[in-house]
Amino acid sequence: MKFKEELQKLNRKIYYYECLGSTNDEARILADRGADSGSLVIAERQNAGKGRMGRAFFSPAGSGIWMSLILKPNISPVMASMLTLIGAVAVYDTMKDFGIPSGIKWPNDVVVRGKKITGILTEMKAEPEHLDYVILGIGINVNMLEFPEEINQIATSMAMESGRNINRGEVIQRFLTHFDEYYQSFLKEGSLEFIKDKYNQSLVHMNKKIKIHEIRRDWDGISIGINNVGELIVRTNEDEVFVRSGEVSIRGVYGYVE
Ligand code: BTN
Repeated sequence: MKFKEELQKLNRKIYYYECLGSTNDEARILADRGADSGSLVIAERQNAGKGRMGRAFFSPAGSGIWMSLILKPNISPVMASMLTLIGAVAVYDTMKDFGIPSGIKWPNDVVVRGKKITGILTEMKAEPEHLDYVILGIGINVNMLEFPEEINQIATSMAMESGRNINRGEVIQRFLTHFDEYYQSFLKEGSLEFIKDKYNQSLVHMNKKIKIHEIRRDWDGISIGINNVGELIVRTNEDEVFVRSGEVSIRGVYGYVE
C-alpha cells in the first residue's frame, strides 16, 4: 500500500504533500488558519528541512518520516519546550516496538549505537502570557540504507538497525499512540514528573561526563538527568547547574554521544 493510503488509516486530520520546504513551516501556516490541535502535516520529501540551531535536515523522498504535529494546548509558553522531551520518549518507545534499542540525547535526539535516528524541532507561536500553538517537527530515518558522506558517521535508520524494510504508516501510528498517552498525562499534571524516570533511564549520557556548548563558552560536567521541567542537571566541581534547551548543544567528551 502506498504511504499516502497508509496515512488514511490514522484516525486524525492529515495534511499530506509530495514535497514541501519544511513541514514545520507549512504547519505554522495551517495552525494560523485554524487547523485543529492534533492535526499532522506530512511530506514525502522536504527540500529545506530544518534542524535545531539553524542546521539543515536531510529529508529525501521515500525513506523517511518528515512530519509536524500541530498542538494547541492550554498551557503557559514556558512549558512548551517540555513537549519536545515527551516527543523524544514517544519515539524511544516506538523504536522499542520495532525491536530497536535506542537512547535519548538531551533534549530530543534519539540515537542508536551513537548515531542519530530521529531529530525533533519544536517551534511555537506565543505572546508573553499566551501560547497560540506548538509545532512538534519530527524527522525519523526509516528506510534509508545509506547517507551522504557528510552525515554517514552520525546518522542511522530503522532499516539499517533492524535489517528489514519498515512500514512508515505503522511507525507513525505507534508514535501517535505513545505520544497521545503522554500528552494527556502532561496536560493533567502540568510537569514532566510522570515521565522523568523513564526519560532519565533512556538518557545515553546519564551519569557521564559531557561538554555543554553555549554560544559564548564551552564547559564540562557530569550529566545527572532532567528535573520536572525538563532542564538537564549538570554537576560541576562547584555546583549543580540547570541547563535549559534552546541555543545549547551537548557532546559526550568522547565523540557524538559517548
Ligand atoms: C534536529 O535534529 O536538529 C531537528 C530535526 C527536525 C527535523 C524535522 S523533519 C520534519 C520537521 N520539519 C522540519 O523542517 N524539521 C522537522
